[in-house]
Formats: sequence, C-alpha cells, structure tokens
Amino acid sequence: MKILVTGASGYIGSKLAHALAVKGNTVHALVRSAPSDSLLKHPNIKIFTGDILNKESLAVAIKNCKQVYHTAGVVRLWAKDPDIFYQHNVSGTQNVLEAAWKEGVSKFVYTSSCGVWGSCNDHMLIETDPRTSAFDNDYDLSKFLAEKSVKEYGSRGLFTVIVNPPRVYGPGPLRHSSGVNRFILRLLRKKIALLPWRLETKANYAFIDDVVKGHLLAMDRGLGGERYILGGENISYRRLVETVNTIGQTKNLIVRMPPVLFKTIGHIELVRGKLNGHDPLITPNVAKRLQSDKMFDCSKAIRQLGYHITPFEEGLTTTINHLKNNLYENEQP
Ligand SMILES: NC(=O)c1ccc[n+]([C@@H]2O[C@H](COP(=O)([O-])OP(=O)(O)OC[C@H]3O[C@@H](n4cnc5c(N)ncnc54)[C@H](OP(=O)(O)O)[C@@H]3O)[C@@H](O)[C@H]2O)c1
Repeated sequence: MKILVTGASGYIGSKLAHALAVKGNTVHALVRSAPSDSLLKHPNIKIFTGDILNKESLAVAIKNCKQVYHTAGVVRLWAKDPDIFYQHNVSGTQNVLEAAWKEGVSKFVYTSSCGVWGSCNDHMLIETDPRTSAFDNDYDLSKFLAEKSVKEYGSRGLFTVIVNPPRVYGPGPLRHSSGVNRFILRLLRKKIALLPWRLETKANYAFIDDVVKGHLLAMDRGLGGERYILGGENISYRRLVETVNTIGQTKNLIVRMPPVLFKTIGHIELVRGKLNGHDPLITPNVAKRLQSDKMFDCSKAIRQLGYHITPFEEGLTTTINHLKNNLYENEQP
C-alpha cells in the first residue's frame, strides 16, 4: 500500500517511515530537504521533497496514497517568531487534511501532543478530560487548534484518528524535539543536575519505539474520530535522575531550584534568545510548567489498540547505550 508520511526527516516520522517500509508498504516520505538520516534509506521509501505549506508539493507526494500519517510540525519550546507555530502546525495541518480529502485517502492519523491538556491536578489525565488551564505557550495552542481542524475534516467524512504522545525519549537524532534525550545526555556528562524544587513532580515519558508502534496500531485498529494517548510511565524527577545515575553509572549532585530563581533564569534566557536568536535553555513558561504534574493514563490505547508500554528502566537502558555509543555525533547540538 502507498502511504504518505509527513515529517519523515523527524524524530518520530523517520522511525515510522522505516517501520512502514519494513512491513512492505511503499512510503511516500515528505521531507523539506535531502535526508541525511540512514533510516530513510530503504528501498520501499520514496523521497518527496516538499513542504506542508506548499500545496502543490503535497498534491504530488500524496498521489495514489491510501493512508496518511501526518507527523510534521514545529516542535520546540520557543520561537523568536511565534507565528511559525500557527503557520506550520495549524495551516500546514489544514493543507495536509485538504490534500487527503481531495485524494480520497481512506485513513488519516494525526500526531498531536499531550500538551493539549496542560497540567493535571491530582489524577492521571485521560482522553476525555477537558483542558482546565489557559494555554501558556504557542506550541500547545497550535496543536490544540490543529486537532480542531482534524475533527472538522472528521465530521465531513474523512476517517481520522488522533494520537497524543507525551515527552518522548529513546534512540534517535538529537533535535529540539528530543528534549528528554538531551536532558539525559546532560546528566551523563555533568556532575550537577539542576531540577525543579519539588522533586516528586511527575511527568509521563514514552519510549520512541512504543510511540511508533502506537501509530501503526492507531491506523490499523483506531476508531474514527477518536484520540489515543500513546504514553509510558509517570516518573518523578527524582526517579528519572536516580535511574539515569544507576544505569549510566554516573553521579549527579541534585540542586533543587526555587521556583522564583528558576523563573528568573527563564527571563534572562528569554532576553538572551531575543537578542541573539539562540534558543533559550529555559523560558519562564517552561520553568512554570516543569513544576507541575503531567501524568497520563494510556489504558484506552492499551485496551482498544493493544498498545504496549516498555518498562522505563528497559527503555532508559537502550537510550543510555545509544547516547553513549553516539557521543561524537551528539557533540553537535
Ligand atoms: N518529540 C516529542 O517528544 C513529541 C511529543 C509529543 C508530540 N510530538 C509530536 O510528534 C510530531 C513529530 O515530532 P518529532 O518529535 O518527530 O519532531 P521533529 O523531530 O522536530 O520532526 C518534525 C518534522 O516535521 C517537519 N516539518 C516541520 N515543518 C514542516 C513543513 N512546513 N513542511 C514539511 N515538514 C515540516 C520537520 O522537517 P525538518 O527536518 O526539515 O525540520 C521534521 O521532519 C510533531 O507533530 C510533534 O508535535 C512530539
């Protein structure tokens, strides 16, 4: 079967394209520039150079495709020009949906994010939970708006399934999108771990291979109009650092950052980012977000899709081995 994968040069998209190719599908891999990733060098992967903002290139890439995985998007904490989130993540998604509608594809899986929910209070969030706090960053809001567009095309008759990964970790290229891997790498290299004040703050961490398999399952078994959280275990900062130290045989001195100090550093980093265009290490919003729980429950995906969660220790061992074996490559930020 011919299948379009957008964002095929990305962390998730490249592995997804490869997994589909290995299964014997012909993958139309939409990329913005010639790929350097060896994952895309499979005989069943056909490269289509294009852009989701360019409708003509999309029409060429989607020709004769029966299914679409739309993973492309701007995935970062901050951008000097926040409009890029809305252009690529919202308008870009609308273009892919329109192209799929015109081509008459049978199924469309959209990669959203758990960011659409925000923080949880004292319980793990599930698919039907509403968002209870205001959006405090453009990325999350753009993913929320993109989901709205997916649902609109769903009500027109396009078979759509939304998947929501949380923080993703595991082997892959070091990009803005692999923030957890970069954090683990820093723990492996540095002696001091700067962490939010409340070390028991928990977030959900999904292993990349589970997320990729979850996409395939969502396409095969997902119900039209539904969304599925493709997560992992809910882990506290304390457990994250201690587990990295145990598996990586490193020792980090944990320094707990008082919220005010964390936020102040965020403000300084933001000014630096605005002045020199470099991505801030942290922003005030991120400093705030890191201090609230983000726990998710994947029971629906497990029950309806047969989704599997790799135990955190196992996924982390694979990740640490990957990072250690690729340290040279990972010297480049
Ligand atoms: N990584 C995570 O932890 C995480 C968590 C939750 C949800 N997600 C979602 O998962 C999806 C994939 O993320 P990822 O982690 O694979 O991020 P990524 O590594 O940054 O990949 C994003 C991909 O989108 C492509 N792209 C961006 N704008 C495009 C455009 N206008 N036209 C064509 N391609 C475009 C990028 O191309 P270039 O290579 O040219 O930049 C890249 O291939 C995203 O939608 C993201 O919101 C990711």
